[in-house]
Amino acid sequence: MTDQYGREIRYVRISVTDRCNLRCRYCMPREGVKQLAHGDILSYDEIIRLAGIFAGRGISRIKLTGGEPLSRRDLWKLVQGLKAVDGIQQVTLTTNGTLLAEQIDRLADAGLDAVNISLDTLDEAQYEAITRRAELPAALKGLQAAIACPQIRTKINCVPLAGENESQWVPLAAIARDHAVDVRFIEMMPIGLGREYAGRTQDDILKVLRERFGQETALTGEFGNGPGTYVGFAGFTGRIGFISAMTHKFCERCNRVRLTPEGYLKPCLQYAAGVDLRGAMRSGASDEELDQMIGKMIYEKPCSHHFENQEEPGAELRQMSRIGG
Ligand code: 5AD
Ligand code: SF4
Repeated sequence: MTDQYGREIRYVRISVTDRCNLRCRYCMPREGVKQLAHGDILSYDEIIRLAGIFAGRGISRIKLTGGEPLSRRDLWKLVQGLKAVDGIQQVTLTTNGTLLAEQIDRLADAGLDAVNISLDTLDEAQYEAITRRAELPAALKGLQAAIACPQIRTKINCVPLAGENESQWVPLAAIARDHAVDVRFIEMMPIGLGREYAGRTQDDILKVLRERFGQETALTGEFGNGPGTYVGFAGFTGRIGFISAMTHKFCERCNRVRLTPEGYLKPCLQYAAGVDLRGAMRSGASDEELDQMIGKMIYEKPCSHHFENQEEPGAELRQMSRIGG
């Protein structure tokens, strides 16, 4: 369906858990993370029911995210259930990759279409400094397993951090030279703990990549589900992408809504506004009633974020792992 600004909404990001086995500094606090109780998060049956209603509204693509979605038991069963929903054409996953190697076969059999692996550095000490866990070998094993799996498209997501992973942009980008993998750089957004970190911009990164790989060519056409812009470098197998919510705002092309682990449908990442679908389902709402709630929330999707305004009224205060990155 289209929202009040004429944007076609065809993509939902579903966060299936707030839990994660890493503690990335810009995403989760070191300690004292309050976790949702199991009964507070949507069951797979509830998610699949909602997916059917989303599909009725023209949403055809689903991204499973978290927290770390692979820390939820038997995620492949959810993938299988979602792929069987009429109108859902694509189910993809965003993961830190550390639990991927042992699950990839089941996920592929369940019909998973693509995976995005969050990887900010290839340096072990730096990985541990950023994620507070020594899991780089597991993440790389996950990446290799994904690359080796022909039916699953693979992307890498790197959040450039000022004064931290600058040395890694070239080695990470080189993965796209050597493999059929897109490597994307995601500008830090001031959400939750991200407010406390300075990111680096698309232009900063392009400058560094140009010095090493030569002049890029802009690629046009639709790649993936979203707002990324892509460039190619000579001799590369995969593409380099940028998701630059800060310096290249893409709200006018936004095509997505988000569902939190506790079943709250959020039309925009920046704002706390949304609708409690879990409460409605558990107090007996019919599919028609849920559809009305969903339709109203999508229609009222805000025009754009105002991340530049730190005091924006109604801004989201929850941390990223509770929203779905
Ligand atoms: N800004 C941008 N990206 C973020 N992520 C987590 N927090 C932020 C933030 N504040 C990213 C992670 C991962 C994805 C799930 O979201 O690095 O790639
Ligand atoms: Fe976990 Fe991803 Fe958050 Fe890191 S960014 S703590 S991997 S959810």
